[in-house]
Amino acid sequence: MEPASAGKKTVCVTGAGGFIASWLVRQLLSGGGYAVHGTVRDPDDPKNDHLRALGGAGERLRLFEADVLDYTSVVAAVAGCDGVFHVASPVPASKSDNPEVELLAPAVAGTLNVLRACREAGVRRVIVVSSVGAVFINPNLPEGPAVDEGCWSDEDYCRTTENWYCLSKTMAEREAVSYAEKTGLDVVTVCPSLVFGPLLQPTVNTSSLFLIRYLNCAGGGNDAMDDKVRNMVDVRDLADALVLTYQNPEADGRYICSAYARKVSDVVSVVTSLHPNLNYPKKFVQVGDEKVFSSEKLQRLGWRFRTLEEMLKDTVESYVAAGILN
Ligand SMILES: NC(=O)c1ccc[n+]([C@@H]2O[C@H](COP(=O)([O-])OP(=O)(O)OC[C@H]3O[C@@H](n4cnc5c(N)ncnc54)[C@H](OP(=O)(O)O)[C@@H]3O)[C@@H](O)[C@H]2O)c1
Repeated sequence: MEPASAGKKTVCVTGAGGFIASWLVRQLLSGGGYAVHGTVRDPDDPKNDHLRALGGAGERLRLFEADVLDYTSVVAAVAGCDGVFHVASPVPASKSDNPEVELLAPAVAGTLNVLRACREAGVRRVIVVSSVGAVFINPNLPEGPAVDEGCWSDEDYCRTTENWYCLSKTMAEREAVSYAEKTGLDVVTVCPSLVFGPLLQPTVNTSSLFLIRYLNCAGGGNDAMDDKVRNMVDVRDLADALVLTYQNPEADGRYICSAYARKVSDVVSVVTSLHPNLNYPKKFVQVGDEKVFSSEKLQRLGWRFRTLEEMLKDTVESYVAAGILN
């Protein structure tokens, strides 16, 4: 009998156990479409156990032990793949003391290792997960209400403001674009805004901590919360966007992936209407709004997204089920 992965296209997802990558792996396995190579740094760490429980994982998910800084380990994971989703990159929850080592090296050298391995393995297309952090950290953004793919964060400004995460994403995406130009490798980059949604993984990732802080349940809701427009997207819609940009032959260049621009106080008020019994912040202080990101280019490719209400409902239910909110 043939193995269940026979005849299926094989794709690789780096950093498979993380928040976004777990949903992407789930999406790729569901419907039986793909065989997936998922890279994790430690396959024996229980924080990656949820991957083995995904539908189809037994037959079509192979975990590879790989650090993106270790070229040989990446080569083994991408061998035989038609496409690679490069998701792995550090997303720290607090300021780094050693950004060159903790952030910039894994983001930049890690991305180049993945791209080089893909080129040598003859991978057809690589989707690189960048961030709006590579788009809007720039004091000289063009005038106008919406920010689009023509905007880039200013590396010097990121350095002087010690915004190491956004610097790491900007440098990594620029390197990816330039590698694609030099070599002809088909690279598409996707720049998500702040990602919320239900958790598949057992740990709480950094962007989910933002929403948990907004809801401020553990703190009893007594402190004033900064209020501003934030751009957000559901992790499941982002996973759709990543698959769409991989599958659609017309996908090209850079795509902002952001669904809603809403004030933090509006987000809290939607959650309050769904779960009136939790403890929410009662006072808000208006601070500078974020500009609104345009995902028109991605929508033209066919991307659709769920409502803010559905995202928040499912997200908060997942937090309650995990005992994060009570
Ligand atoms: N969440 C957001 O709001 C958001 C928004 C825009 C862009 N992004 C981007 O989306 C990607 C995934 O983020 P996430 O939110 O899903 O965060 P996450 O859950 O923290 O996932 C990050 C992943 O990167 C892996 N990683 C870090 N350094 C690595 C290395 N040297 N070698 C191999 N793997 C390494 C981590 O593996 P370990 O488990 O081994 O540490 C983890 O699987 C990142 O590129 C991030 O910049 C996220």
